[in-house]
Amino acid sequence: MEKNFEKINKVNKLIRTNHNNRKYDSWFDWQINDNIEISKFKEVISGVESSNFSPDFLSESLIGQLSKIKTDTILDYGAGLGRNLQLLKKYSNNVDYIDLEHYQKNYIDYINDLGYNETYFIEMIPDCLIGKKYDLIYCSVVLQHIIDDEIYEKIVKILYDACDYIFLVQNTMSPIKDVFFKYFELECEEITDIYFGVNHRYILFKTKNPS
Ligand SMILES: C[S@@+](CC[C@H](N)C(=O)[O-])C[C@H]1O[C@@H](n2cnc3c(N)ncnc32)[C@H](O)[C@@H]1O
Repeated sequence: MEKNFEKINKVNKLIRTNHNNRKYDSWFDWQINDNIEISKFKEVISGVESSNFSPDFLSESLIGQLSKIKTDTILDYGAGLGRNLQLLKKYSNNVDYIDLEHYQKNYIDYINDLGYNETYFIEMIPDCLIGKKYDLIYCSVVLQHIIDDEIYEKIVKILYDACDYIFLVQNTMSPIKDVFFKYFELECEEITDIYFGVNHRYILFKTKNPS
């Protein structure tokens, strides 16, 4: 456990530049390569100071903003072990899951029991979303780890076509790449919580052509 926290702290201190032509930063290496046991995995995802695997904390103002938009269908993009499912269920009974294939390989029984509507496992680019449309895509601490610009743009373009709104939770050390703003415009932003000792911004964006 201690070792994982150390690893993550080290990664958080790195400036996220793509020196080695990687698809995503080294934050994922431990989870992809180690097939870490679920309870330990949850502790790491919960952050250094918290151990209860609690969902993102939304401020009253963000809750108010979300209540103004349609949220009948939600996609938890990069959902991991479903930390935010209970939060999202307050807005919809129809929450879908997407994450990388290694979750299917290592944690499929656990994920199947969580209560998502549909689950999708992908290699990297979410082609399975082409032709789909969600009211809201919830994307918590995912895109900040994608450091390959081409992959980032492909993902963002697919997400844009697949939703009206996207809710991003992202650490303030990693800029939201310019290309994101080509497709999405800021609806509202709050910085409300700290994970891994780093401020995270909670931001609701709408697509530039909401239906
Ligand atoms: C820090 S974890 C966050 C998990 C979950 N959203 C949460 O907040 O507990 C980042 C997640 O993004 C996933 N991820 C990485 N690249 C992805 C991609 N191209 N598409 C979807 N998910 C991806 C990782 O596998 C990992 O589960």
